[in-house]
Amino acid sequence: MTIHIGAEKGDIAETVLLPGDPYRAKWAAETFLDNPRMVNEVRGMLGFTGTWNGHPVTIQGSGMGMPSLSIYANELIRDYNAKTLIRIGSCGGMQPHVGIRDVILAMTASTLSTPSRGIFKELNFAPCADWGLLHAAFIAAEGKGTKTHVGGIYSSDVFYDERPDLNEQMTRHGILGVEMEAAELYNLAARHSVRALAVLTVSDHLQTGEALPAKDRERSFGDMVDIALTAAFS
Ligand code: ADE
Repeated sequence: MTIHIGAEKGDIAETVLLPGDPYRAKWAAETFLDNPRMVNEVRGMLGFTGTWNGHPVTIQGSGMGMPSLSIYANELIRDYNAKTLIRIGSCGGMQPHVGIRDVILAMTASTLSTPSRGIFKELNFAPCADWGLLHAAFIAAEGKGTKTHVGGIYSSDVFYDERPDLNEQMTRHGILGVEMEAAELYNLAARHSVRALAVLTVSDHLQTGEALPAKDRERSFGDMVDIALTAAFS
């Protein structure tokens, strides 16, 4: 057990999917895994372990924002020996050619600050995805016929951002979408020599103001789980 995860050592698989929402973790485990069992409920941040095509998999909620994800990813890697961590979540589109429901595979994650800032100080470290996972996820997404974009995203510290100029600069520099967790996941993966990827569905668009209707969210989320699992074991 750790401070934030109540699971026993052997309860967590080497492959972990990290949705922000703990209820999404429950839904994904019940929908995609064989014999899912709850391994964590500390603070309601639910985690489940089961198997997918015979492979052990844990699906653990990460919460919203980099400080929350950092807690779970640190404990999963350092205390439970997680080796492959894939964030599955939503993002806001930032380019005209990126549509609602499209999938973004985050090659890099730019950020103003992360919980790792204390380590990097003035250095602008470039957090990036594991190439093998990224490549496998792209093949999996294309195979499903999902419209997929691969490129840089922006991990913001704020959802209700009062600095539109920063978003404009991100768009100008080709950033595909904004979310709030991937940069810290990539930092931690680099630090501990494990694999990480963020698979994101565009749930809203900063330029058009469009948003994915609630009824469509489950299906899009399911596509991401499928892509992430296929990539993890390719
Ligand atoms: N996650 C989904 N949409 C988002 C947005 N517009 N900003 C930050 N995170 C998001």
